[in-house]
Amino acid sequence: MHETATEKHNALSTWLPQCRWFSQKTTPGIKHRLRCIDSIVLPDRKTPSEAVQIEILGFHTDIAEITYVAPIRYTRDQDGTLLCHDATQDECFHVWLLEVVLQNKTVPTSCGRLRGHLTQTTLLHNLDIQRLAVSPLGANASNTSTHIRAFKSVTAPTDYVAKLLRTFSTGTHPESEIGTYLAQKKWPNTPALVGWLEYSPQRDGQGGTVATLHKFIPGSTSLWDFSIDQLAHYRLGFSNLRATAAEVGKLTAEMHQALIDTDSSSAFAPIAPTVLESEASANAMVDHAQNVWNTAKAAQLSPPLRHRIDQVLSHYVSINDALRSAVTSPHTAAYIRVHGDYHLGQILITPESRRIKVIDFEGEPQKTLRERRRRTSVYKDLASMSRSFDYLCFQAHRTGVAQRSATELVRIFLEAYAMESGGACFYPDNEKERMALLNGYMLDKAIYELGYEVHYRPDWIDVPLQALERHLNTGSLLN
Ligand SMILES: Nc1ncnc2c1ncn2[C@@H]1O[C@H](COP(=O)(O)OP(=O)(O)O)[C@@H](O)[C@H]1O
Ligand SMILES: [Mg+2]
Repeated sequence: MHETATEKHNALSTWLPQCRWFSQKTTPGIKHRLRCIDSIVLPDRKTPSEAVQIEILGFHTDIAEITYVAPIRYTRDQDGTLLCHDATQDECFHVWLLEVVLQNKTVPTSCGRLRGHLTQTTLLHNLDIQRLAVSPLGANASNTSTHIRAFKSVTAPTDYVAKLLRTFSTGTHPESEIGTYLAQKKWPNTPALVGWLEYSPQRDGQGGTVATLHKFIPGSTSLWDFSIDQLAHYRLGFSNLRATAAEVGKLTAEMHQALIDTDSSSAFAPIAPTVLESEASANAMVDHAQNVWNTAKAAQLSPPLRHRIDQVLSHYVSINDALRSAVTSPHTAAYIRVHGDYHLGQILITPESRRIKVIDFEGEPQKTLRERRRRTSVYKDLASMSRSFDYLCFQAHRTGVAQRSATELVRIFLEAYAMESGGACFYPDNEKERMALLNGYMLDKAIYELGYEVHYRPDWIDVPLQALERHLNTGSLLN
């Protein structure tokens, strides 16, 4: 099929607002803000006239340009109008992806290039793939993950997870950086990164990660889904979760140990936070909190919620001060690389063996790559997992399960972490520092959650709001 640039532009402008991962749906004037930066037509023996194309799209917001990556199959309707279809579940896209990644290939695009990186080069081999079966995974909020089963002629099928990162930036991406690092270390508690796909807008210019390929963990489910199921359907569900919380604490300690490299020039070397660094972290937290306070002030809410949020807002100065003092008070613990977006949905459990593994080292997608790769306190991860236990108890109660406080699970999680981490350079040597950091980072996370829920999920506002109210009433987010 031959499509003109104008036809493509029109079709893309109509299609993008229907895509879950397209974060600018409500921005007016999509057509004028959109530009096609680059593209590549993938080889397709079955339907060459409607071959999949990977489009690199630029979208101008009022502040910056966001780059999106979209594999698309174009067709025409009865009137001849060009239509876009998401091609991330097309066999042809994944055959191409496996070939490029598993064979370390470089392929030119119209302006730049795509390049495969195989993490374990010993695997470099003739692909021998007869057929692929692909099925979607996860909620596809900002990325698109797919389970791929590659059937071979001689050996048993191989299973992979391909994740397409929908938003592109040049520079080192933590998902492929940490994945490569942990695969080289042979850290067993994460699905091994098999390889990744790099895109460079210019042939010889700097690139960035657009997709990753991991080993698939058969029979696994997220620890969030597993825990909800335990609470909803098993009489001993909460007792079982006590054991799980302890396992997560141990796993988290092992993850932080694994994220340390003793080579002082490495991006994974621990650092002692300087006054400047602590100040910069505190400023970033307070600036972010201020944005959330502004969003919450302007939000249209029911009168009871409005009243409660106004109560919290009336204490915003003291909350900002609490954030600042938690991060700038003198530290004995080093800053290290952390997971960065740690919650129960980022742990896979295989219910039969009860083995748990950490996934998704991407960090918080709305932050810059530089911010996500910054070394920080391990309490960034410990606090966000603690908040996840609070969400879990809230959600279980909402679906009819007896009310449970998350505090017991959090305590068990933190005690198990401490058992493994005592004496580690990243673990504070005194209780006062530990409590200050836990409270500071939990406060930061609860403020982030408030902003998110006000914007996207008003039904969930109560979770962070209750946590902030607890902080104001008792000085702690736990009860
Ligand atoms: N290696 C894996 N094996 C099996 N399922 C996986 C694997 N990696 C991810 N998944 C599934 O895909 C979902 C999304 O994966 P994740 O990497 O967290 O993507 P996202 O960036 O969209 O959060 C997970 O919740 C899980 O259900
Ligand atoms: Mg995830």
